[in-house]
Amino acid sequence: MKYIKELSVTANEQLNEGCFLLKLKSDTALPEIFAGQFVNIQAKNVADRILRRPISIHDVDYSTNELSVVIQKVGKSTAELSKVKVNGTLSVIYPLGNSFPLNEANPLLIGGGVGAAPLYYLARQYNAKGIKPHVLIGARTEKQLFCTEKFKQVSHMHISTQDGSCGEKGLVTENSVIKEEFSSFITCGPQVMMKALAQKAKEKNIKCYVSLENRMACGIGACLCCVCQTKSDGNQCVCSEGAVFDADNLIW
Ligand SMILES: Cc1cc2nc3c(=O)[nH]c(=O)nc-3n(C[C@H](O)[C@H](O)[C@H](O)COP(=O)(O)OP(=O)(O)OC[C@H]3O[C@@H](n4cnc5c(N)ncnc54)[C@H](O)[C@@H]3O)c2cc1C
Ligand code: FES
Repeated sequence: MKYIKELSVTANEQLNEGCFLLKLKSDTALPEIFAGQFVNIQAKNVADRILRRPISIHDVDYSTNELSVVIQKVGKSTAELSKVKVNGTLSVIYPLGNSFPLNEANPLLIGGGVGAAPLYYLARQYNAKGIKPHVLIGARTEKQLFCTEKFKQVSHMHISTQDGSCGEKGLVTENSVIKEEFSSFITCGPQVMMKALAQKAKEKNIKCYVSLENRMACGIGACLCCVCQTKSDGNQCVCSEGAVFDADNLIW
């Protein structure tokens, strides 16, 4: 079941130069939410951005009925959302999309840039199953990393920065942890990064699950503007049949 509700903003924290974290509280119990699902948020006061914006769920707190999201300012809606005041409200549709696999024995979770956001809740969901996963985060520079202390509490953490300012210097695909044994890669970030990781997974003969960030409009499978092509099922709506796909099944 999907909900469309006005959620109260209970926190708006700047995480780094471009990213901020919003906590959104429901006045009723949250439904069960799985890592990899996303919300569609309406930014107010943006006349030429009438469409809601899809944003991954970063964490869920059932004890307070709050969900949190990490948003990077890239355009008008995200800039407007960055200014939202605590005690204000936002119209949110949730939870949307499918979810990351939760039955992997030893997955490596790999996030690039703001794509790291949903991996925090995924790591926590693995913790609940008694697994402390390895997480690899990549960014251009240390200044673009966020929530690293939180990630360290729930995972074995590895970092790559392109300028070497934190962790190993280089791309995530070059990080030494990639060479270790894993049951699968689960990844979210720029498509070029996810494609390179899918190739690495193929070489290691393991699965790679990717969370696609195609441009979306309706978010519920009605407008077909977000389709991707798959080998087994033809065209699929990323918003309703994804956003998580087995990379091996994608034609991309
Ligand atoms: C399933 C899903 C989950 C997402 N999760 C997050 C998240 O957790 N945090 C976050 O910050 N962003 C996330 N995004 C991306 C986010 O939806 C866009 O950045 C946002 O819609 C941009 O809106 P805007 O009005 O600010 O920018 P616009 O003015 O619409 O666009 C500004 C610039 O960003 C580019 N852009 C916009 N949307 C996307 C996109 N989907 N992929 C790549 N480039 C885009 C545009 O081409 C343009 O160059 C997610 C997208 C999807 C589909
Ligand atoms: S956004 Fe409309 S079908 Fe996916």
